Amino acid sequence: MRLLITGASGLLGVNLAWEAMQAGHAVVGVTGQRGLPGAPFPAFRADLTSPAAVENMWAQARPDAVVHAAALAHVDACEQHPDLAHRLNAEVPGEIAALAAAAGIPLVHVSTDAVFDGARGNYTEDDAPNPLSTYARTKLAGEQAVAAKYPQAIIARVNFFGWSLSGQRSLAEWFVNNLSAGQPVNGFTDVFFCPLLANHLARLLLESLERGLSGLYHFTSPACLSKYAFGVALARQFGYPHTLIRPASVEDASLTARRAHNLTLRSDKLAKALRHPPPTWETGIADFHRLHRQGYPQHIRRWLR
Ligand SMILES: NC(=O)c1ccc[n+]([C@@H]2O[C@H](COP(=O)([O-])OP(=O)(O)OC[C@H]3O[C@@H](n4cnc5c(N)ncnc54)[C@H](OP(=O)(O)O)[C@@H]3O)[C@@H](O)[C@H]2O)c1
Repeated sequence: MRLLITGASGLLGVNLAWEAMQAGHAVVGVTGQRGLPGAPFPAFRADLTSPAAVENMWAQARPDAVVHAAALAHVDACEQHPDLAHRLNAEVPGEIAALAAAAGIPLVHVSTDAVFDGARGNYTEDDAPNPLSTYARTKLAGEQAVAAKYPQAIIARVNFFGWSLSGQRSLAEWFVNNLSAGQPVNGFTDVFFCPLLANHLARLLLESLERGLSGLYHFTSPACLSKYAFGVALARQFGYPHTLIRPASVEDASLTARRAHNLTLRSDKLAKALRHPPPTWETGIADFHRLHRQGYPQHIRRWLR
């Protein structure tokens, strides 16, 4: 298939483009400010804040399927730029969904685990969201716009880590960068999540498109852990002293946006639809390390030049 990936320079987009090409798909990437002149697939820049740019992108890409991963995905930046967050996270998904519906092609819209308030955890797709931040509120509005314009679309609530073009985008990179420099860091013992490796998430998204899924699904690891435990697991995998990670509370951190404590999500619905469970975070960390040993981070960063 000819797969349009928006946000192709982002943490998910890069790894999705890689995995889609490995699976034999033709990729067309759309980026915001960063160009990808060295990428092994055609990519062009488009400022999706402009409705005309959304339509131009569509005409230029001529996709058979779409994964919409572009967003203002920095939680604190959304508090500082609420109008931009609303445009990108709430409005643009509806416009893309309308185009996909009119063309009758499959669409994955990428959303977030952060639509929940994290008071309880263990959330299913039937639980009521209660977003705490501008990021989460605008992402939930984006889900609603997609569902209204194109009920057959896949809405994927995700959490993931992986290798990025900047080398600094994901929590896992942040831990590894600091650990490799011998720099002590705080790990939150009171924030829980169920992260997938971006490459594993990418394969699940492709599989969902191929199987013709539609509707809302949680694309998360079947097992969950605290951010502190995640850092310790990374330290063990990469052979750094885990004592560099200091147990800390998110309540003591100076962050702009409110953070949810327990964003553990159940992925049973997805496991049933795909007839297998998503990979675990343990497999994710093992593969994250294997990709590092194989020079994957350097390989994808050449796409920028
Ligand atoms: N990272 C996570 O842990 C996480 C967790 C839950 C959900 N999500 C969701 O997953 C999706 C992907 O996140 P990510 O972490 O891969 O994001 P990211 O690394 O921050 O990348 C964002 C992407 O969106 C593009 N973009 C931003 N503004 C744009 C604009 N005005 N026009 C066109 N493109 C624009 C960026 O392009 P340039 O960089 O080229 O400007 C980049 O390719 C998002 O929907 C996010 O909400 C992420």
